[in-house]
Amino acid sequence: MTQNITWHAHQLSTDQRAQLKGHQGAVIWFTGFSGSGKSTIANALEQKLHALGVHSYLLDGDNVRHGLNQDLGFSDADRVENIRRVAEVSALFADAGLMVLTAFISPFQTERALVRDKLPAGRFVEVFVDTPLAECERRDPKGLYQRARAGEITQFTGIDSAYEPPSAPEVHLDAGNMSPQECADKIIQVLQSKGLLTP
Ligand code: ADX
Repeated sequence: MTQNITWHAHQLSTDQRAQLKGHQGAVIWFTGFSGSGKSTIANALEQKLHALGVHSYLLDGDNVRHGLNQDLGFSDADRVENIRRVAEVSALFADAGLMVLTAFISPFQTERALVRDKLPAGRFVEVFVDTPLAECERRDPKGLYQRARAGEITQFTGIDSAYEPPSAPEVHLDAGNMSPQECADKIIQVLQSKGLLTP
């Protein structure tokens, strides 16, 4: 599909934009079950980043599925396409100089690896929100697990659709036993140690 299309090189560099912003553009990619706390932790992190003067933007699965990805469902193929589009958007935002936070189940290793490969080295921070399925199901904030168990929703992650945990995430959160604030603080420490909060 990309024949007859030429890539135009930008004259303003990613580094110049980072200098202007005072920090690097990067993608902080949350992955975990529905109800694991991805959005809650991402929101807590965004507050802290904002207080530090970091220009961020949160892409959240439930919201993006109302707009850009409203044509997609929850088959494996649709989840792959969901993440592919979010990968493209995130990489563009990060190149624009923003600290992008994404909160998608993103159940498959291959798609998460594709996002990592789209970004410059060190600019992809994978955060595994490792709340056990039983705890997510106990919380059931949207009542979806109950409906999935009753057979009213099919292809539900953890029930009858697969989740492949990250093998080497930059941040591994024992989120069933930590508060969202503690989780956000741990991520900030990792961003600092990786030099992502300085230009
Ligand atoms: S992903 O698997 O493609 O990454 P995404 O994060 O965009 O999923 O959307 C997950 C959200 O959609 C869940 O938090 C839940 O609110 C809702 N949802 C609706 N149906 C399903 C389903 N079959 N499996 C998982 N989540 C679902």
